[in-house]
Amino acid sequence: MFLCVSLWLKIGGGFRFNIILAILCFLPYNCLMKVYAISDLHIDYEENRQWVYNLSQSEYKDDILVLAGDVTDEIPLIEKAFRFLKKCFKEILYVPGNHELWTSRNNGLDSLEKFDLVKTIAENNGIRLKPGEFGPLSIVPLFGWYDYSFGPPSQELKSQWTDYKACIWPEGFDEKKVTRYFISFNESFLTLKNSFIISFSHFLPRVDLMPFYIPHSKRYLYPALGTHQLELQVRRLSPQIHIYGHSHVNMNIKKDNTTYINNAFGYPHEKWTTSKQLLCVFQLPHGMGDL
Ligand SMILES: [Fe+2]
Ligand SMILES: [Fe+2]
Repeated sequence: MFLCVSLWLKIGGGFRFNIILAILCFLPYNCLMKVYAISDLHIDYEENRQWVYNLSQSEYKDDILVLAGDVTDEIPLIEKAFRFLKKCFKEILYVPGNHELWTSRNNGLDSLEKFDLVKTIAENNGIRLKPGEFGPLSIVPLFGWYDYSFGPPSQELKSQWTDYKACIWPEGFDEKKVTRYFISFNESFLTLKNSFIISFSHFLPRVDLMPFYIPHSKRYLYPALGTHQLELQVRRLSPQIHIYGHSHVNMNIKKDNTTYINNAFGYPHEKWTTSKQLLCVFQLPHGMGDL
């Protein structure tokens, strides 16, 4: 059974969405086009891969999947997963995570070239890395990285964080420049208007999305979670929902008129902070998404 949240329709959207809400009240569940979110599939783990390949190829035929990064760093696995997922969902919108930019198993490419390769593979399989408009709903991918605006990196982070070893950047690129590079792709999307907007990123737009119960011993990771630059972009776009990944800590919290949702699948052992199922974040009557 998949969780489904239709109450988002109650927030914002104006008159047009009040009409949609009224229609939804009278429609059976299977007459709705649903938007599902998931991130951090990490399909290099057998258990995770099996979950993906057990997804129904008929149940989501009219639905949209928002895939918020960290599928895997392995190109053959990414390619196969994209091909399979595109058979399951009508539309998939995707941003790469940090794991996709690891170059250790892809000799000869730097991380920006790996980004371009993953992007090309996604697009060749009909997966979007650009905004999609589905009638009154727009879904907007936001690229990013981390620039230490959430705090300076400690020695512990520098010695343990795999990105420092697995990512290779062109000469002159440090984390701040990498972040500026990816954030700049989002600029042209930020003036987009529609009745309802869902944006998504792999990285966190704000560090206060991390819950209070995270032990202090794990907080050395916070500087590598995201960037304040993303928060500024989310504020400009003003989506009703922003989906993010990377933290592997499921979350649903409203801040400044935007509901932030994390539905990471996570590593096999992360059973406490992840629900390991698709999350329906929005639904529209069939046909309305084709307007
Ligand atoms: Fe991840
Ligand atoms: Fe990540």
